[in-house]
Amino acid sequence: MCVRGYDSERMKIQLGTKPLSEIKDSYLVLPIFEDNREDYGQATVKSFLAENPKFGKLFETQTLYSSDSKILLIGAGGKDKFEFITMQNLAGAAVRTLLRKSKSLSFVLPKQVELSESDRTYAAAMGVEIAAFDPTKDFKLKHEPAMLTNVEFLVDRAEKGIQEGLKKGQIMADLINLTRKLGDLPANIMTPTYFLDIAKKIAKENKLKITVLDEKQAKKKGMGAFVGVAQGSEEPSYMIALEYTGDMKSKDKWAFVGKGITFDTGGLSIKPSSSMHEMKYDMCGAAAAMSAIAVVSKLDLKANVVAIMAVTENFPGGKAQRPGDIVKTYCGKFAEILDTDAEGRLVLIDAVSYAQKDFKAKKIIDLATLTGAIIVSLGDHITGVFGNNPEFSKKFIEVSEKFGDKMWEMPMHEDFEEMIKSDIGDITNIGHGGSHRSAAGSTTGAKFIEAGVEEGTDWIHLDIAGTAWDMKSKPYRGVGATGVGVKTLVELVS
Ligand code: BES
Ligand code: MN
Ligand code: ZN
Repeated sequence: MCVRGYDSERMKIQLGTKPLSEIKDSYLVLPIFEDNREDYGQATVKSFLAENPKFGKLFETQTLYSSDSKILLIGAGGKDKFEFITMQNLAGAAVRTLLRKSKSLSFVLPKQVELSESDRTYAAAMGVEIAAFDPTKDFKLKHEPAMLTNVEFLVDRAEKGIQEGLKKGQIMADLINLTRKLGDLPANIMTPTYFLDIAKKIAKENKLKITVLDEKQAKKKGMGAFVGVAQGSEEPSYMIALEYTGDMKSKDKWAFVGKGITFDTGGLSIKPSSSMHEMKYDMCGAAAAMSAIAVVSKLDLKANVVAIMAVTENFPGGKAQRPGDIVKTYCGKFAEILDTDAEGRLVLIDAVSYAQKDFKAKKIIDLATLTGAIIVSLGDHITGVFGNNPEFSKKFIEVSEKFGDKMWEMPMHEDFEEMIKSDIGDITNIGHGGSHRSAAGSTTGAKFIEAGVEEGTDWIHLDIAGTAWDMKSKPYRGVGATGVGVKTLVELVS
């Protein structure tokens, strides 16, 4: 088994301290702030900037040639707006500009910005690797390979912290890219069994303990909601747990819980055909949870984490659950299925209970491509955050903001609980009784999962339906799955 594009293909990134005048064979990349221009001491650059006083908007590029060097100017935007994510994406944009134009580039890291030296190389290295990842690589017959293989970051001194930042950025990007790779894989390849194979490989590589429940074992344990979804498909399904113990002395335990629907047809409440193909991405939450715990282990973080991935297809096979079915969840509550297409919350309510009951996790973050409604609310670039403890959510969002995953907290008032009350069972798997069929569609989904959260557990649900993939390429990233969530989860437990 091999996931191409993950195992070996890293860009070679090195630190360099040579003066600019000595960079000859490599493309020299110079960031230009729009307001606060650095003097790089190059005549061609000086005269270009004198003639173009407005140059410097973020990601704007200009190539300049002189007798003995090739230069790429890249706009860095306003200096006071320069953040971690600007550094990351700027490095990415430089790489994507030169990916098929040069074998090597030498990037002058911006100075006097409000980033620690190690965060600067962390962000830049991550940007480079994310930009170099090519989602079309395995599936285009006439694939045009990249030319770029060597990246140099030019810094004043190659200190230890700078070197460590670089390494961290590469580790993080490797697993963000794995998340992207897994998301992009079509569902005829990315089956639950394929996902399990990857999980086993990740466990082995990172000394994680792996526990797998197949459908039969999950049923025996009482995970009726998970099994209700799984039973409609011919493919075997798995509830997978990976454990990392980095702090023996502490009883604190985090859980990263991911929705892993390898393909969501909607089940008997079948989806319209027009965009069903996108539902291969419905396992991006599980891929992110798995990747995040791998990074936590690779960085040897002092924390205890369990990652739970609920992995199954949602299919309308002969054994499929029916609208109107009532299933008993692992937390004990009875759930009435009103729509088999609201399957994510079903697999998650049991996964969240599994994290609490079997692994004693007290701080849980679940990630799920849960609702189309979150795209209506927040669009394609912002992840919806739902939680049961405002302070915990606030802290979480602060971390996400520092590292550039855009998130927004959504309301979770008790009133919404009315909307998922069942007449004959405890809860319904879609909201009802509102003035509109899909009223507060993302919040009712979150409320359903929350029904499995115990007293004293801090819990956050991330609805990544809008942010898990992006079919519009960016200056710093190609199309496809984005790997959203991995960076923030790791930083949260750091
Ligand atoms: N996987 C989908 C949500 C989704 C839709 C993600 C579009 C990304 C893009 C989820 O399982 C689903 O089908 N949700 C339903 C819920 C509804 C039946 C209450 C939805 O959003 O329509
Ligand atoms: Mn669905
Ligand atoms: Zn789904």
